[in-house]
Amino acid sequence: MKKIAAVFMTLMILLGLTACGSNSKQKESGKSIDNKVTSQEKDIVKNEDTITNNILIAYFSATGTTKTIAKYAAEILNADIYEIVPKQPYTDEDLAYYTGGRSDKEQNNPSARPEISGSVENMEKYDTILLGYPIWYGQAPRIISTFLESYDFSGKTILPFCTSHSSDIGSSDTDLHTLAANANWLKGKRFASDTSKEIIKKWLDSNKLISNADSEVGVFDFESHTVMLNSGYKMPIMGLGTYSLSDDECYNSVTALLKSGGRLIDTAYMYKNVNYHQPNILK
Ligand SMILES: Cc1cc2nc3c(=O)[nH]c(=O)nc-3n(C[C@H](O)[C@H](O)[C@H](O)COP(=O)(O)O)c2cc1C
Repeated sequence: MKKIAAVFMTLMILLGLTACGSNSKQKESGKSIDNKVTSQEKDIVKNEDTITNNILIAYFSATGTTKTIAKYAAEILNADIYEIVPKQPYTDEDLAYYTGGRSDKEQNNPSARPEISGSVENMEKYDTILLGYPIWYGQAPRIISTFLESYDFSGKTILPFCTSHSSDIGSSDTDLHTLAANANWLKGKRFASDTSKEIIKKWLDSNKLISNADSEVGVFDFESHTVMLNSGYKMPIMGLGTYSLSDDECYNSVTALLKSGGRLIDTAYMYKNVNYHQPNILK
């Protein structure tokens, strides 16, 4: 059992490294999102890993919460991401609740259509749009209406998601349906500000947006003795990670590995367990 746990640890470390690799790529994408937002020149950030992806994550976020969820979804799906940027940015004053300010006025006026800076290039190439927004007084901000009226969504699938302080999605998603009546609208979902990437992955999976291949990542197949890495490579399960092992557990795990023919051991001075597996290696 301990042996399996140790092998598992190795692979988790290796998977972690793989994940770090892809994350650092994605972090670069994230950086360019910010750059793009600042420059407002090119609006869609193309995910470098996109192969045949026809999913676009489009979102509006005034204070960054919805943006975080949108970025999780884009990273998980390797999808392009587009920030709906208002031509006239919202100031803190504009966003202040119940002050009769800009956001109050817009939300009280169903015909308000705040202008968007920039646009989605080649909207026709996407067949699924994830549409993210913050809840404003129980509704989607009016800029989402502007967005929906700017393109032809006929035949496209739209999956709404929102963030809020405490309100549920309510009718904020279904109220949008008439603005893109020919789209195939999926049931929207609300997320809290502390939602993890794992929860977003599960939500995407439940909407069948994650391919079978992707959902197999990290699954240990003990029949074929392989584990699927993020890259799609099926890596043989044959190593041992000693990072979290100490005392007898470390000694026994290393011994078991060596007896069964394994020779891949991840170790480091900083793990502070080197004394426990060193004697095994010397024998
Ligand atoms: C004008 C305005 C109205 C809001 N109305 C609600 C509301 O009705 N219910 C709620 O739970 N949160 C409400 N919020 C809070 C936001 O929905 C929440 O902070 C959201 O996660 C912000 O997303 P963002 O950071 O992507 O802009 C409101 C925020 C603003 C600025």
